[in-house]
Amino acid sequence: MSFVSHLECGLTGAEYPHDRFRTVSDANAPLLVRYDLTALKNAVSKDLVAKRLPEMWRYLDWLPLEGPDQIVSLGELMTPLLPLTRLADGQVIVKDEGRMPTGSFKARGLAVAVSMARAFGIDHIAMPTAGNAGAALAAYCSRAGIRSTVFCPDDAPETTIREIAFHGAETYRVNGLINHCGEIVAAGKDRVGWFDLSTLKEPYRIEGKKTMGLELAEQFAWELPDVIFYPTGGGTGLIGMWKAFEELGAMGWIGAKRPRMVAVQSTRCGPLVKAFDEGHDEVQEPWDDAVTLIHGVRVPKPFGDRLCLKVLRESEGFGSMVDDDEVIEARAAVAREEGIHLSIEGAACFVAWRQELQKGRVSASDRAILFNCASGLKAEMPPVETRIDRTRPIDYSRFRATTGHF
Ligand SMILES: Cc1ncc(COP(=O)(O)O)c(C=O)c1O
Repeated sequence: MSFVSHLECGLTGAEYPHDRFRTVSDANAPLLVRYDLTALKNAVSKDLVAKRLPEMWRYLDWLPLEGPDQIVSLGELMTPLLPLTRLADGQVIVKDEGRMPTGSFKARGLAVAVSMARAFGIDHIAMPTAGNAGAALAAYCSRAGIRSTVFCPDDAPETTIREIAFHGAETYRVNGLINHCGEIVAAGKDRVGWFDLSTLKEPYRIEGKKTMGLELAEQFAWELPDVIFYPTGGGTGLIGMWKAFEELGAMGWIGAKRPRMVAVQSTRCGPLVKAFDEGHDEVQEPWDDAVTLIHGVRVPKPFGDRLCLKVLRESEGFGSMVDDDEVIEARAAVAREEGIHLSIEGAACFVAWRQELQKGRVSASDRAILFNCASGLKAEMPPVETRIDRTRPIDYSRFRATTGHF
């Protein structure tokens, strides 16, 4: 039995029953899952949660599944917190979501959404993706025996495009951006009969992403950090974590303190940062010419823009746009100096933290979380051209020279 009470329109607050796999509200806004938090509070305790397996499903009571039998799993373990001790003083902590199945945090949302889809008897799902969500969708659908069709921009990272196809999804490269892919999926709903699992166009992916907030709270002994840097494309993680904190707050599991939420985007695609800085409630118009290497944030106008901007305002957070070249350089520096292989999006959070420290919007004493949303192994690395010819005498003196910090 789940503790879900109803679904609620994220714009108008209108209520809907959770009797079927719904898409969006009548106002064409995201639907949010609401729970009977009093009943939930009476049923679970921090001690009970602490005794459960170290995996995402320890938070099953906060999820819409009716029970463990409905879970479609690929092994969603809790992800580690890695303090930066060389490039920062240990107060800056990477939450490494690259450990999740299919190498990204998208596994959280897709594990829950595909579990729900299977429970509701859905047999075909389609999705637009920047790459990682498509890979997770394909894998979980294969696991659940559901057909999947995925559309991605033709310049999405090659590894993820191949990963999607390799997991058995019918995979198409589209000569456009993620919003164009989304239009194809939406238009095919009636013609093909697939379910549109686009970001925030159904209520359950965000519930999976919510577990990042629940997990962080538990990892910090139910006291939240000061600031969270999140690479924001569609914004599910931002909205999901904020929802987790609201629910935990309502249950009395955490105090009044909330982290400031920072939406990290690119100077080459930063619609949410622009809208926030200009004081708007929504993105006024899609970002023109969105060409950034930070693929996960390349969403010209997120469907959940209003909800994302609300989170930034309510949390007293802000938006931070970063330069692509600085991000590429920082990813290499963090790998070299800290041994942590960030995704490009994760490196964007590091650059945002560094620049906001300089600007004074965060301080060195702030406990800051940087979300590394995917494994660095998915992104390109520079080639290695240093060779040894084993048939010739080897000059061992070259190995004695010290490099870097060794
Ligand atoms: C690695 C990575 N980081 C961040 C994002 C953005 O996530 P969200 O849609 O929750 O804003 C994505 C989405 O594609 C991603 O793949």
